[in-house]
Amino acid sequence: MRRKLAAGNWKMNGTSAELDRLATLAERHSAAGCDVLICPPATLLSRAAEALSDSQIALGGQDCHTASTGAHTGDTSAEMLKDAGASHVILGHSERRADHGESDALVRAKSEAAISAGLIAVICLGESLEEREAGQTLEVIGTQLQGSLPDSASGETVVIAYEPVWAIGTGKVPSTEQIGEVHDFIRARLEERFGAETGGSFRILYGGSVKPGNAAEIFAVSNVDGALVGGASLKPQDFGPIIDALAASAG
Ligand code: 13P
Repeated sequence: MRRKLAAGNWKMNGTSAELDRLATLAERHSAAGCDVLICPPATLLSRAAEALSDSQIALGGQDCHTASTGAHTGDTSAEMLKDAGASHVILGHSERRADHGESDALVRAKSEAAISAGLIAVICLGESLEEREAGQTLEVIGTQLQGSLPDSASGETVVIAYEPVWAIGTGKVPSTEQIGEVHDFIRARLEERFGAETGGSFRILYGGSVKPGNAAEIFAVSNVDGALVGGASLKPQDFGPIIDALAASAG
């Protein structure tokens, strides 16, 4: 069985003043019936690791370089994230694809670097509004999935996050039918490429305007194994109920 995962992406938010939110979350969720992951900015990783050392909450980075060391000013390697306390790293988020021109091939190379360093890669896919309106959603997702995942991927080393670009930070959420269609499609493609057992082992998260009020409905959709949460993950009073809804959906 795939264990559910509630992941929080803090994006470029948070300074040391916000670290106490992690302790609040850890106190509230010592025995959550699902996995919980927080991806704070890289500057907070090692202090977050100290704050969460007695908890079950995992930590992740939000990007990494393809190389482990070298002359790459401003970049962070997967090894460095791991050293700072991360077990996961988000890769190919649509904001990085848009702001930094990241291609599927680059996301794949970064994923290989992350896996080599012993991190779990949380690989993000998602269509734009124009692509959805042009009826290209499954084609776009299929291309991103094929190009961004390394051949060595498995459910132990990779988590997929489906995040429609138009749903991120907008309050607009696809219908449960639309979410289910894409998640079922991703599952079928994974099973085709990696075989039924390995393909069935990947967790597929939904991301984009997940809130306490819509979480339970989204978690009831087939092949939704959790969420990648942006804005609501910054507030324990919002992320807490989302985790509770996910744990409840796991039964
Ligand atoms: P929001 O939850 O703020 O829409 O962000 C989703 C996201 O991009 C998570 O990676």
